[in-house]
Amino acid sequence: MEIMHKLYSWWLGSGLLVISIHLILAEQTVRPSESEFQQLMESNLQFTMGMFQGISSRISPQENIIFSPFSVYTVLLMGHLGAKGHTAQEICLALKFCTLNISYIHDTFGNIIHDLFLDPSHHGLLAVANRIFIKNHLEISPMYEFTLRYYYNATVQELDFMNDAGEAQDAINDWVKKQTNGLIQDILTEAPEPRTSVVLANALYFSGEWLWRFDPAMSNPSGKFYLTDESHIIIPMMVGKMNLAYGYSEQFQTSMLELPYKIRRVSMFLVLPDEIGGLQHLQSKLNATVLKHLIKTMKKTEVNVRLPRFRIEDTPKITEVLKDMGLHDLFSSSDANLSGIASNEPENERLHVTDIVHRAAIKIDEKGSVAVAATAAIVERVGSFNMPFFEADHPFLFLIMDKQTGTVLFMGRISGP
Ligand SMILES: *[C@@H]1O[C@H](CO)[C@@H](O)[C@H](O)[C@H]1NC(C)=O
Ligand SMILES: *[C@@H]1O[C@H](CO)[C@@H](O)[C@H](O)[C@H]1NC(C)=O
Ligand SMILES: *[C@@H]1O[C@H](CO)[C@@H](O)[C@H](O)[C@H]1NC(C)=O
Ligand SMILES: *[C@@H]1O[C@H](CO)[C@@H](O)[C@H](O)[C@H]1NC(C)=O
Repeated sequence: MEIMHKLYSWWLGSGLLVISIHLILAEQTVRPSESEFQQLMESNLQFTMGMFQGISSRISPQENIIFSPFSVYTVLLMGHLGAKGHTAQEICLALKFCTLNISYIHDTFGNIIHDLFLDPSHHGLLAVANRIFIKNHLEISPMYEFTLRYYYNATVQELDFMNDAGEAQDAINDWVKKQTNGLIQDILTEAPEPRTSVVLANALYFSGEWLWRFDPAMSNPSGKFYLTDESHIIIPMMVGKMNLAYGYSEQFQTSMLELPYKIRRVSMFLVLPDEIGGLQHLQSKLNATVLKHLIKTMKKTEVNVRLPRFRIEDTPKITEVLKDMGLHDLFSSSDANLSGIASNEPENERLHVTDIVHRAAIKIDEKGSVAVAATAAIVERVGSFNMPFFEADHPFLFLIMDKQTGTVLFMGRISGP
């Protein structure tokens, strides 16, 4: 077995960013089958949509959402490597990959990380880091350590949660801060529980530079964004006319738009219902099948675009959502089976995940690649005739997708920028 050498490089501007911290975590095997890749990506998309529905059902429709399904999925895979029995079964059910060959899944996601994040041309635009913080005196299984490193280049750091939770908190916060170049300062706002055994941490950064930038001179500093039929706010609105993939679904009364990033395999897909208050209805119908249907409507065309400039940041309650999706044992001090992680269990209770902290941020502005900006047919006032409009002046959804694999790196909702 050859150990993959993954060279991660770090630096950050201000862009898109996600951190997830996962207190503890999973293994289990099954048989392979034909077109495994498609099945895996289909299940990954279903997991993504399930998480989105779970997060959105827990908050009011007026709240924005941003999370990284990719990040949560990867960390749960890291957990699955150390889980056994029923705990592992629950993870594969929640992630919907029970019928697939588990080594193949780890290989595939390890490779996605490798290709996406280690490509030298993505240097400074996209970065990921994984680390296990483990309580001291726990004998972490060498096999677990090895496989984590092998697939995910995750390193291990011992911490004394029991006697110095404050220092443990600082260590985790410092690591996250360093990996995100200071963009996320205090991911843990309080000290971890003294009983904490393992923290699985994952930090993902994406700079989000457009392939074709919006011309700042064209932006409208006082655009209107309708929160509801009756109320609006004034926000900066970027304006552009570009040749983009655009689609419209009569059935869902929704337009789609693809904004390509400088990293060519990654694009932002915007999902905009016709009606100002149309998002609730669309969301109630939205699943992996509907999303794929919407994407299939898209064709290259000249589009007039209006898109708010915005920055949002969120710490969604991932743990609760995952519990709703069927992950019970993993978080249970009486039922968790993480015997693949350590050979010695803490006394009186099982090694388990105390909580998952997940934070993501996104900033959308005019910035694009200097190198290709010249090509862009860029801007002209919105209002040309015979051309589709994509006017995101009311609540919409976005997905940042790796088009090569179909993995959703980030997903969110803008209810009010
Ligand atoms: C693994 O990740 C660490 C950061 O935790 C990084 O410094 C190192 O270069 C990576 N190793 C490889 C082989 O890519
Ligand atoms: C965990 O699961 C394995 C495999 O099913 C089993 O052999 C082991 O006894 C379980 N450990 C605990 C602590 O339940
Ligand atoms: C599972 O996948 C791994 C890696 O992709 C492969 O080496 C192995 O042969 C597969 N196992 C089965 C049972 O097909
Ligand atoms: C999505 O919803 C449609 C209609 O409600 C249903 O036919 C389809 O099977 C669903 N797809 C998934 C992946 O759940």
